[in-house]
Amino acid sequence: MKIIVTGGAGFIGSNFIFHMLNTYPNYRIICVDKLTYAGNLSTLKSVMDNSNFRFIKIDICDSEAIEQLFMEEKPDMVVNFAAESHVDRSIENPGIFLETNIMGTAVLMDACRKHGIKRYHQVSTDEVYGDLPLDRPDLLFTEETPLYASSPYSSSKAGADLLVLAYFRTYGLPVTISRCSNNYGPYHFPEKLIPLMIVNALNNKPLPVYGDGKNVRDWLYVEDHCKAIDLIIHKGREGEVYNVGGHNEMANIDIVKLICKELGKSEDLITYVTDRKGHDRRYAIDPTKIHTELGWLPETKFEDGIKKTIQWYLDNREWWEDIISGEYQHYYKKMYESKKE
Ligand SMILES: NC(=O)c1ccc[n+]([C@@H]2O[C@H](COP(=O)([O-])OP(=O)(O)OC[C@H]3O[C@@H](n4cnc5c(N)ncnc54)[C@H](O)[C@@H]3O)[C@@H](O)[C@H]2O)c1
Repeated sequence: MKIIVTGGAGFIGSNFIFHMLNTYPNYRIICVDKLTYAGNLSTLKSVMDNSNFRFIKIDICDSEAIEQLFMEEKPDMVVNFAAESHVDRSIENPGIFLETNIMGTAVLMDACRKHGIKRYHQVSTDEVYGDLPLDRPDLLFTEETPLYASSPYSSSKAGADLLVLAYFRTYGLPVTISRCSNNYGPYHFPEKLIPLMIVNALNNKPLPVYGDGKNVRDWLYVEDHCKAIDLIIHKGREGEVYNVGGHNEMANIDIVKLICKELGKSEDLITYVTDRKGHDRRYAIDPTKIHTELGWLPETKFEDGIKKTIQWYLDNREWWEDIISGEYQHYYKKMYESKKE
């Protein structure tokens, strides 16, 4: 089996590559990544010399480069993680979100149609459903919940999801979609809530919390998300959407306090900042379908996952210090220059 994994130098894509190479040593994994600010090639250091792994720096919107790659590799599957993924950045500059998240998805699926493929999998998000009220804990997102995205990021993801389903209906492309809740774990870029708070706390810097901090997210350890996608691409039904989430709702402020406690830092570091525009109040996933159809259940409890994650950031200071200093952006050049010698 040959699988193209796009966005594999980012947080979830890299964890998925590690999971797949460990679980299926005979599969060939081809990682496509543009290496935007969010892509970090040093994350993939440990698999670079694996003969079943190839990294190629391509923009998924570049149809010629994607066509060339399909001709060379003749992939069986594509798993698309590549995206602009930060809500705050989408509020500042929506255009690039539309290009990568929607147009890039179209380019990949057009190549899949042309060359034939066993499965195109779109990695989507629960944010396409919009948000839920804080005072209705009985309400959860199911696959039937209407799409009602709030931010340019989530609406670009919703647009891509509609396109994926249209390619199934119109062209019969064998697609699946997963819509997952918030992930946390190793290799998470320190602009997102959990890694940002860990890194700032370690540096005794202020911990900026939006609004009143009471916004609720449904957290899932990244490895559990990777296992869900593994199941969906092998056993999921074509044309179907699967929600992925761990019934683990936490208010942002409680997570920040927990991180302070685990690191022995004072809560005085917490500073409340002006709320994000259109900030979603609560996300909560109903994962019944993936559980009953595919037998998926999350394996890592939040109490354990958060400890493992904090420990990872303590053990891998160089990884995030290189991001803060900007050094990580030179890694690609260094790698390929050293290969030429
Ligand atoms: N992080 C979460 O909690 C979460 C939850 C649900 C779904 N998702 C979805 O999962 C996917 C991965 O999220 P993440 O948190 O790992 O994101 P990330 O920002 O860490 O990684 C995105 C990767 O995509 C690459 N990329 C961006 N534009 C590209 C382009 N035009 N061509 C090729 N590569 C490009 C980046 O260089 C980066 O390596 C996204 O599609 C996101 O919407 C994320």
